[in-house]
Amino acid sequence: MFMSTSTPSTSVIVFLLLLSSNWLTNAALPNINDFLAQGDRALSADRLEEAINHYSRGIQLLPKQWSTQEEEDVNDQDYQVSAEETEQIMSLHTNYATALSFLEGSTLNVINAYRTSCICYRKWKKHSNNKVNDMKPKRVAVQSFFFLGMTYQDLASSDVETDTQRIEYLQQAVKAYAAATKLDPNHWSSYANMGVVLADVGLDGDGNTAVSLQLFEEGILSYQKAVELLSNGKSGSSKATDPPENVEEVVAELNYRIGLCLVPFLFMTPSSDGDEDYNTKLCTLPGVAADRSCFELAAYQFHTAMQYGPHEGALNALTLVTADATFGMSTDVSKVQQLFEDYASNFESSLVDELKYNGFHRMRRIFDQVIVKERLEGHMFQLVVDVGCGTGLAGVEFRNISSTLVGIDISPKIIEQAKQSHPVYDEYRIGDVRQVLQQFPQTVSLLVAADTFIYFNDLTELFASMKVALDEGGYAIFSLENVSNDNEQRLLAHKPDWRWQITPSGRIAHRKEYVEAVARQNSLEVILHDNLDGFRREKNVDVPGHVFALRKLPEKSVNNDEL
Ligand SMILES: *[C@@H]1O[C@H](CO)[C@@H](O)[C@H](O)[C@H]1NC(C)=O
Ligand SMILES: *[C@@H]1O[C@H](CO)[C@@H](O)[C@H](O)[C@H]1NC(C)=O
Repeated sequence: MFMSTSTPSTSVIVFLLLLSSNWLTNAALPNINDFLAQGDRALSADRLEEAINHYSRGIQLLPKQWSTQEEEDVNDQDYQVSAEETEQIMSLHTNYATALSFLEGSTLNVINAYRTSCICYRKWKKHSNNKVNDMKPKRVAVQSFFFLGMTYQDLASSDVETDTQRIEYLQQAVKAYAAATKLDPNHWSSYANMGVVLADVGLDGDGNTAVSLQLFEEGILSYQKAVELLSNGKSGSSKATDPPENVEEVVAELNYRIGLCLVPFLFMTPSSDGDEDYNTKLCTLPGVAADRSCFELAAYQFHTAMQYGPHEGALNALTLVTADATFGMSTDVSKVQQLFEDYASNFESSLVDELKYNGFHRMRRIFDQVIVKERLEGHMFQLVVDVGCGTGLAGVEFRNISSTLVGIDISPKIIEQAKQSHPVYDEYRIGDVRQVLQQFPQTVSLLVAADTFIYFNDLTELFASMKVALDEGGYAIFSLENVSNDNEQRLLAHKPDWRWQITPSGRIAHRKEYVEAVARQNSLEVILHDNLDGFRREKNVDVPGHVFALRKLPEKSVNNDEL
């Protein structure tokens, strides 16, 4: 079961020790305080049979309307007991159930006893004219419903005869948790456990697959409610009832489980890739912008979970949903365009100042190595295109080796900015780089793409258009994001054939071998591969990067290779 933080024994005992200091006598009721107190003492000392004995003797003394689940044909008068007395009656039943729950084979009696406590509360509310504060009986009722839910949950994960039976138990558990949250809307643990019953796809404490009703959307709502209660508790606006000591850990776990609800196949059948394409399937997550792929939202949840500290499950899941994911990015160029339109006016300052971008200069220096290697010292490149030129920062670096320099960008606004800030280009083209390159009137001697290909996941079409545009023997130099060492290990472990990974910032980190393979398919030879770690900083962390220089092979030599 999920919430081991509040097993029946501990929370009831703590709660009852408080209660036992409250000695009362009432003429209408037998004095059950002694039985309750003695039972509690035995229970907290783990003397179960003795505890059960005390509680059941107390219960036997109760008038029938307080010891059965049936409505007796008695006067309203007979129900006139105080809130304190009601609390004691309910505690007898609840603690009896808790003591019993440690014994094998008494589950049905446990359920009956918790139910009796809940029903006592309902009878008292219905019949008594007691309009005073019902806090104490209500608290016991919430506990009773919660433990009732846990007992049904346990029952569902034990050996049951039929699936129908199991579903019945799960539904009873949901009902009990719902009743607890109705009485106490801040009862986070009921919401959390309800989430488990509705939608859990993870493993329980013993490593068994948890059973659930597989109602993922309802599960998400329930988990979210628990997260909300626990998060609010910190700022003091709404306090979760009995918050756990390890709030951060629990919130991380809840976020992780919300992520699993979005892509249930991840851990349901670990070997399969799932029937549905969650890459493109859209999911909704209350409170987060709609129209996102389930993978993207799941990645968001796993990432959120990891903000609270290390979480192995979330890390592995994040690796799985981000490897080779598309999140609808390159299929919809307008999304990339939108990103830059929003960004245009402070594009340069955000790159150079905030992100401490120095990738352009480093790329130029690395290209000097290519020049030396290829014996091109003093060479002027006839036609150089700067793909994704932005405001012209890369153009500045490559201007003095370009006869003609063309800037290509998808954003008209950014081109306008380039004309203002760095008027180094002879010409500009606006559009999707793949189309612009396919239709380029002359062949290109050098293609520069600084921080541009990180917005493409699949490189096939892009490299095919480079092949069309480049001269035989023409060069391309471009930067890509790289994965961290840890991520590389994880990817190799969980998805050995991975090609790229979406990073938290929504950009793509490409695998070297994948880039090489797509280059090879397009007659492009890798002549240099170098490290570009820290080409950009995000949130004060160096972004890992790498840079590639390619040369287009003459068709003939490709054919020779193939022979
Ligand atoms: C050309 O410009 C770059 C960047 O400003 C500079 O590093 C380089 O020394 C310049 N000259 C030549 C001949 O490359
Ligand atoms: C890319 O990252 C991987 C994993 O950290 C590393 O092994 C590799 O050397 C990096 N590549 C470059 C060119 O830095």
